[in-house]
Amino acid sequence: MTISEYGKALVTGASTGIGAKLVERLTAEGVEVHAIARDAERLEQLAERTGAIPHALDLGDTAQLEELIPSLEIDILANIAGVSRMGNILDSSRDDLDALVDINLTAVLHLVRLALPGMVERNSGHIVNISSIAAHYNFFGHTAYHATKAAIHQLSRQIRNDTLGKRIRVTEVSPGRVETEIFGRNLGGTPEAIAAAHKEYFEGYESLTTQDVTDAIMFALRMPRHVNVGLLELMPTFQVPGGLTFDRQ
Ligand SMILES: NC(=O)c1ccc[n+]([C@@H]2O[C@H](COP(=O)([O-])OP(=O)(O)OC[C@H]3O[C@@H](n4cnc5c(N)ncnc54)[C@H](OP(=O)(O)O)[C@@H]3O)[C@@H](O)[C@H]2O)c1
Repeated sequence: MTISEYGKALVTGASTGIGAKLVERLTAEGVEVHAIARDAERLEQLAERTGAIPHALDLGDTAQLEELIPSLEIDILANIAGVSRMGNILDSSRDDLDALVDINLTAVLHLVRLALPGMVERNSGHIVNISSIAAHYNFFGHTAYHATKAAIHQLSRQIRNDTLGKRIRVTEVSPGRVETEIFGRNLGGTPEAIAAAHKEYFEGYESLTTQDVTDAIMFALRMPRHVNVGLLELMPTFQVPGGLTFDRQ
């Protein structure tokens, strides 16, 4: 199918990274895109560049989502926004856990709750959820991040059961390392912090790009309507999952 057969999309995490790239790709295909993030200035620049409709809001604000989403009649819901944290459960603050659960999981559940009834009524819709390889493998990352992303994996599968018999498709995209600002945000999010994270996490590595990840999303959207692409795992060729760790005492 052509992507513009889906008339309207809502993309979260639209101010930068994978979300911003997806907005560019969808608008280029003639889709009306509603773009959500907190950074109003970046959204405004994105709107000027792409024609997307900006909605500067915090995804933790459920009341704002309730006001906005049902009236939009969106065909594609792309849940791209997400946060990560350093360390693991032993180093977590209350804020760390709240942010991870609120943005990576609760906001996604609310967006699905608010957008799905309209899709069911119109018998057409596509939900794209970004999880992570952290949803599927154990490694030394933030445990609450792993937990929220594993929940996104299960949610993606479960929505298909909730909508059986309707032309609703759900695609989970599970990337390994992608070159974005996500790690720099954990160091403070300033331009210096983002540069430092770039040096630490990306320099000398061949990471995925936002183009790679959005290529996968566009592939799932373009498949004929009778095909649901359920799960796409993408990793840099030089990144592998697993590795059994055995601590020596
Ligand atoms: N980069 C990777 O290596 C990688 C790997 C696997 C999975 N992922 C997943 O891919 C998704 C996109 O990540 P990315 O790498 O593109 O991250 P990014 O560059 O850090 O972008 C994150 C986006 O989420 C938005 N966001 C964060 N908190 C928000 C909030 N409270 N309300 C509204 N918007 C919020 C940010 O916008 P504002 O700050 O303007 O609000 C930004 O647009 C995430 O779900 C992430 O977990 C990333």
